[in-house]
Amino acid sequence: MANDTAYQKCINPACAAEFDCGQAMFKCPNCGDLLDIKYNWDKIEVPHKMSYFSKRWATRDNRFDFSGVWRFRNLLNFCEDKYRVSIGEGQTILQQNSLVAKELSMNPKSLFLQYEGLNPSGSFKDNGMTAAFSHAVMVDAKSCACASTGNTSAAVALYAHSCGMKCTVFIGTGRIAFGKLSQAMDYGANTIQIQGDFDDCMKQVQDVCTKLGLYLLNSLNPFRLEGQKTIMYRIIEQLGWEVPDWIVVPGGNLGNSSAFGKAFAELKELGLINKIPRLAIINADGADTLTDLVNNKKLTWNNGNVDEKIINEYYDNLTAMNYSPHTIASAIEISRPVNLKKCLRAIDVCNGIVMAVSDDEIRDAKALIGKFGLGCEPASAATIAGLKYLLADGTIGKDERVACVLTGHQLKDPNVTVNYHKDKMGQYSNAPIEAENDLEQIIKLIK
Ligand code: F0G
Repeated sequence: MANDTAYQKCINPACAAEFDCGQAMFKCPNCGDLLDIKYNWDKIEVPHKMSYFSKRWATRDNRFDFSGVWRFRNLLNFCEDKYRVSIGEGQTILQQNSLVAKELSMNPKSLFLQYEGLNPSGSFKDNGMTAAFSHAVMVDAKSCACASTGNTSAAVALYAHSCGMKCTVFIGTGRIAFGKLSQAMDYGANTIQIQGDFDDCMKQVQDVCTKLGLYLLNSLNPFRLEGQKTIMYRIIEQLGWEVPDWIVVPGGNLGNSSAFGKAFAELKELGLINKIPRLAIINADGADTLTDLVNNKKLTWNNGNVDEKIINEYYDNLTAMNYSPHTIASAIEISRPVNLKKCLRAIDVCNGIVMAVSDDEIRDAKALIGKFGLGCEPASAATIAGLKYLLADGTIGKDERVACVLTGHQLKDPNVTVNYHKDKMGQYSNAPIEAENDLEQIIKLIK
């Protein structure tokens, strides 16, 4: 069933167990650590240059060439065509945004916004789901599940219904933006609201999947991350196959940052790029586990020998305090990120940095992107809020080329947007003006 081009491997160097891709697991059965997808590159047709992929634009009548994920299938070659699921994901654009750049006092040509809101379910998640669902079909899964702050549930529901699979999504009560909840319900997901936060849902869904044999679609699933690598391929494609100096990404469950680090490590190993960009991962202040662990507790990848004592003590402390994360950027309201270790590896590969921004900074950055860009949801705007700091303290030079990943569509969370403008919460607030139903009065109000 599985082909011989790829296999699964435990990331813990002391274990390093290997499994074929015909098995559905979301953790190493030997030691419980995370799994990676590895490739036998000598058995794959690997292009000599990234520009090889440009030719697939000419054959877009083949739906796998049309897909912004499968167009790069040589670099995520874990399944045969017949298992592939695709609904047109990855038709995204990298917008050079001189107006936002000017507001940030950057070189107007240096800022690029990778807009993932154009995906079928309105967020970057579809990149991962097309890959994970292809694997689910390959292993003949009948029913699947995920925990979610909203976007994962929307994407899972959409892909599940498109391939006739049952799905159950777990969300924390009151923790999900309405745009996302409406999608899960509309796409027909069995939606379970747990009294708790995302971390509680994440724990429950793992137990439920193990007990009931459901296919898990959170980013613990290593096949999902393979699809998310393509966000980086599309950025460099749109830069004429050049690598930017920086990638800026919001950090939640840390799937994206992990996938991006893996993408660049592989491209470098294959000789397809000559430099690896630096990675800046931005947390929200109210959900800043990664920032705290990396910047204050000095947690590092350490060649795979991550100091688990530091992590366990940190989590024990959260439990003792009965801590629950809180941020307006509900998508990244996560305090126990499941991909923490892989993210540490990405930081190591990309000479990465981590920081956190406040909710007020996220709101202002979101309105700035709305005013001059394509609009995005709050979590995505953490990138621009973080970039502002990194420019100010000189970490990022104003002439360096920066690509910020705008992970989700503006309409995912209209409440945050409307409240910001209507309640005049920040410098870009643009409240509607009340007018009498009178022509003279209305004309006076038009500036
Ligand atoms: N941005 C958006 C819009 C998201 O929905 C998420 C994660 C992230 C950023 C964080 O990405 O987990 O790869 O670090 N949302 C998940 C969900 C957790 O359930 O929809 P990450």
